[in-house]
Amino acid sequence: MALEVVVLAAGAGTRMRSRTPKVLHPLAGRPLLAHVLDAAFRLEAEQCHVVVGHPADEVKAHFQNEPRISWVLQEPRLGSGHAAAQALPAVANDATVLVLLGDVPLVRAETLSRCIAASGDGIALVTIDLPDPRGFGRILRRGSSRDSHCGSRIIGIVEDADATAEQRAIAEINTGILAAPKAVLGTLLETLDRNNKQGEYYLTDIVGKADARGIAVAGVDGRVPEEVMGVNDRVQLAHLERYYQRGLADELMRQGVAVMDPSRLDIRGRLKAGRDCVIDVDVVFEGDVVLGEGVHVGPGCVIRNSALGDAVEVHPMSCIDGAMVAAGCRIGPYARLRPGTELAESVHIGNFVETKKASLGVGAKANHLAYLGDASVGAGTNVGAGAITCNYDGVDKHRTEIGENVFIGTNATLVAPLTIDDEAYVGAGSTITKTVEREDLAIGRGRQRNIQGWTPPAKRQGDEGP
Ligand code: UD1
Ligand code: MG
Repeated sequence: MALEVVVLAAGAGTRMRSRTPKVLHPLAGRPLLAHVLDAAFRLEAEQCHVVVGHPADEVKAHFQNEPRISWVLQEPRLGSGHAAAQALPAVANDATVLVLLGDVPLVRAETLSRCIAASGDGIALVTIDLPDPRGFGRILRRGSSRDSHCGSRIIGIVEDADATAEQRAIAEINTGILAAPKAVLGTLLETLDRNNKQGEYYLTDIVGKADARGIAVAGVDGRVPEEVMGVNDRVQLAHLERYYQRGLADELMRQGVAVMDPSRLDIRGRLKAGRDCVIDVDVVFEGDVVLGEGVHVGPGCVIRNSALGDAVEVHPMSCIDGAMVAAGCRIGPYARLRPGTELAESVHIGNFVETKKASLGVGAKANHLAYLGDASVGAGTNVGAGAITCNYDGVDKHRTEIGENVFIGTNATLVAPLTIDDEAYVGAGSTITKTVEREDLAIGRGRQRNIQGWTPPAKRQGDEGP
């Protein structure tokens, strides 16, 4: 039987207390819904229907480059059962339907495959025992012993809001993930009503209806709570974030990376790291980041969409964004590399140095307090403390081209467009506006004047001074 996936993602997400739709809240830097879709796409279903609520534009806009989604609008929102019913007309009659919740982000394709396999001619649902089942629908069984569900039959689901005190003590919860042939699902959805505490069509009510009609209901064990748990509020989201991040950190360590504190690392994207990299505490990786072998990343760094070569050292509190950094470079502490930065081997970028669209040749150094924007700096050149490329005239950006083995003195102001040839020197405190030729020394500053025997103004009586 062909498989079609229906993702319910129209809920208002009230408990998040947010203007952002719940399924767009990020986990590891990507919307919850993107994680659900990852698992869905891995199953290679014929169709993936995503039910969204009004206004749907924000959610749709996020996934506009994803042609595998067919969108379904649920308007008004009348509960998860109503949401599922909105998608059914678009599903092929002979399909098996897998229902996923847009707020259960970490479910694995393997769990879903087990659920689909267990559905047969009836319903299969993924359940799990939780030490704290508050807020979830509880699974009602007949003939269940306290410690085992073996041999017992699922006869219904009761929502937390509607449960009796006795039912609330049940540890086995509904994860919301279920599979059934479209015909079975369609028939059962038609029988739903809104006679419950929340006045909604509960998808979960189909389980009791199925049991009453002799339709088989199979339970599939979700095995790992975090992988099948829903996100209804920010506390649950933070819990899943830490769980997910811990998994990524463990994976890195197995690949030979030293993670100083696996609970203080965040990877919001894809990180590839070679052996013997050392990642200190509170480091955030975003987008696509590649680290060579033996890269050291100090505490508090943020590295986004960048590639760092072997043995690069990034000292504390540095931000690297959109940069290519070759082997042996030393960066920071407190450095900021912005997009378009390209550093050749063994470049040193020190504290409070900012670079943007800047290339530095082998062994070039800018060790303190400099801005290099729209600039190229040749190999072996030394950029002194406080040197600035003035790349912006208020309207346009201009480039500064600095050759090899150049010496740029402290506090030099380099007004672009500007060329400074190889082996040239710029005196400290200079404002340079014209080309400096090879091996020349350029000095552009007021000449020092010493006034001999200077007598300071006399103090008047009663003056308090500054
Ligand atoms: C739901 C289940 C509960 C289960 C829990 C697991 C129901 C009635 N209850 O409760 O048994 O333990 O998930 O996480 O299904 N949605 C719509 N349209 C609506 C309402 C909801 O698309 O009108 C979507 C939501 O976006 C969400 C899903 O359905 O993805 C579940 O809704 P939610 O309000 O989160 O239900 P829970 O209280 O979590
Ligand atoms: Mg939920």
